[in-house]
Amino acid sequence: MTVLDNFATGRVENLSVARDNPRLTVQRVDASRYADVQSFFDGAEWVFHLAALADIVPSIQQPRLYHEANVNGTIAALEAARRAGVRRFVYAASSSCYGIPELIPTPETSPAKPMYPYALTKYVGEQYVLHWSRVYGLPCVSLRLFNVYGPRSRTSGAYGAVFGVFLAQKLAGKPFTVVGDGTQSRDFTFVTDVVDAFVRAADSNVTGEALNVGSGNTYTVNYLVSLLGGDVVHIPKRPGEPDSTFADNARIRRLLGWRPKTRFEDGVRRMLENIGHWHDAPVWDAESIAAATREWFVHLGGRGEEHRENG
Ligand SMILES: NC(=O)c1ccc[n+]([C@@H]2O[C@H](COP(=O)([O-])OP(=O)(O)OC[C@H]3O[C@@H](n4cnc5c(N)ncnc54)[C@H](O)[C@@H]3O)[C@@H](O)[C@H]2O)c1
Repeated sequence: MTVLDNFATGRVENLSVARDNPRLTVQRVDASRYADVQSFFDGAEWVFHLAALADIVPSIQQPRLYHEANVNGTIAALEAARRAGVRRFVYAASSSCYGIPELIPTPETSPAKPMYPYALTKYVGEQYVLHWSRVYGLPCVSLRLFNVYGPRSRTSGAYGAVFGVFLAQKLAGKPFTVVGDGTQSRDFTFVTDVVDAFVRAADSNVTGEALNVGSGNTYTVNYLVSLLGGDVVHIPKRPGEPDSTFADNARIRRLLGWRPKTRFEDGVRRMLENIGHWHDAPVWDAESIAAATREWFVHLGGRGEEHRENG
C-alpha cells in the first residue's frame, strides 16, 4: 500500500501503527501535481482518494487553494488512475453537498446546494469522479461521508469539527462552546464504519454511484455534551449550517450490504479513552471562535448583520 500525502494538515505519526508493515510506503507529494504523483499509481488495484483540504473557514478565505487541492487534486488522481488502469477508484465526497437539506433523512437524490467553497470543491470533485466513470469507464464510487469521528482525527489548525473542539476543552477544564441552543443534530459516523464502506466499495462491482455513508441516526450537540460531561457556554448560530444532518443510507445498504456497526455511545467512549491525543490541540473559547469565524458571518450571513445581532 502506498500513501500519498503532502501533510498539509495530516500527520505522519497517525501511520505509526503500521510503521513495521513492510507493504506500506509513504510518499510526501502534492496530489494536485499530476507529474509528481502519476508514477505511484502504477500497479495499483484500488485507489482511495481522500487527500483534500477539509476546513470551512479557510476555504472561505482561500478558495483558490481549496480548488487546487480538492478539484485539481481529484483530476490528477483520476487521470493517474486511468493511465494505470486501476480496478477501482473510491472518492471521499461530503454530505456538505446537500447544504441545508430539504429532506431529513437525506437521500442521494436531494439537490446539491453547497454553501461554502469547501463543500463546492468536494462536490465538483465528485462530479469529475462520476464523469470519469461515464466517459472513460473508470470504475468509480463516490462516498458522501457524514460527520466522521474517531481517534487520531485532526487536532490542529483551523476551528472545526465539534469533537476536536470539545475534547480539547474538556482536557483543559474549559466549558464546551455550544453553537446556538445545541438542539442541532449531526449524523456522527464512526471512522471504522467509514473504512468498511471504502473497502466494500472497492471490492464491489458497483460503479458510477454516489452513496451516503452515515449512521442513519442523528444526535443533538446537547446529547453529545451529556455524554462527554462538562459545563457549557453558548455561541452564535452560524449561517449556512443545517439544523440536522441525517443520512438516508438505504442505497449503500442495498448496493454494498454495508451496515453501521458502532453505536454513538460506544464511539464517544472510544473518543474519551483516547482524549490524550488532544493534549496539544488548540483550546477554543467564545472569543477566539468569534475571531476565527468572522469571515464566515461576513460572507455567508448577509454581510455581517447576523454577526452583529448575535455577537
Ligand atoms: N471528517 C469528516 O467528517 C469528513 C466528512 C466528509 C468528507 N470528508 C472527506 O474525507 C477526507 C479526509 O478528511 P479528514 O477529515 O480525515 O481530513 P484530514 O485533513 O485529516 O485528511 C486530509 C488529508 O489530505 C492531505 N492533503 C491535503 N491537501 C493535499 C494535497 N494537495 N496533496 C496531498 N495530500 C493532501 C492532508 O495532509 C491530510 O492528511 C477529505 O477528502 C474530506 O473532504 C471528511
